[in-house]
Amino acid sequence: MTSGPNLVARRLFAPIASSYERWAAVLSLGQDSRWRRRMVDGLSNTPKAAVLDVAAGTGSITRLLQARGWVVTAVDLSREMLSLHPGPARVLARAEQLPFADASFDALTFGYLLRYVDDPVGCLVELGRVVKSGGQIGMVEFGLPRGIWNPWWRLYSGTLLPQAGRLVGPGWRDVGSFLKGSIEDFYLAHPEPERLFKLAGFTEVRIEKLSLGGGVVAWGRKP
Ligand SMILES: C[S@@+](CC[C@H](N)C(=O)[O-])C[C@H]1O[C@@H](n2cnc3c(N)ncnc32)[C@H](O)[C@@H]1O
Repeated sequence: MTSGPNLVARRLFAPIASSYERWAAVLSLGQDSRWRRRMVDGLSNTPKAAVLDVAAGTGSITRLLQARGWVVTAVDLSREMLSLHPGPARVLARAEQLPFADASFDALTFGYLLRYVDDPVGCLVELGRVVKSGGQIGMVEFGLPRGIWNPWWRLYSGTLLPQAGRLVGPGWRDVGSFLKGSIEDFYLAHPEPERLFKLAGFTEVRIEKLSLGGGVVAWGRKP
């Protein structure tokens, strides 16, 4: 798809779908799986509870949820990413406009979504709409290391990552040169992501920074 909303995400992920999990792990220096596990382990689970995994991609978070007994429905806007998702319930849709009734799910997760939407608070309100009262949401996102770690992060994401991406292939070249600016722009606009959760109406908001601030995990509860 070359037109319509969410163009950046659609263009970025279509060419890298088949190698996404392998190279995402390498280029995050093996850290991304740890962030996802921490997020999923921070959700309180009851057997067979229904969770919506938004921006599910090829299923990295879905598989962790399934291993802990959740019944998962996966949503993503990329046909290419979703075609590699293990299922069984996969829905091609936008996070900004979910095709589910209010309060359909006991919980909701999303990984690496908010940098791709025009209105993060509006999107969070839409995510919250489909969660039952008392249900949790959990997020994984890149962080922006501060203090002494910031120059190292800038070196990695501004120089080494684009070079590594170029070596992997054309799709990863684009990802490698996109990520630093995308992360910096996001935190410039939203220095405290927990504030976005609160503005969208969630309570009990918790945030954890992992891997020297390179990863951020957050949770909230629908009142
Ligand atoms: C970096 S991948 C993350 C996939 C998975 N959550 C993970 O942790 O590996 C980001 C995913 O978000 C999806 N995405 C981006 N914007 C979206 C939106 N507005 N609605 C639904 N999916 C979106 C992309 O298509 C892509 O599959």
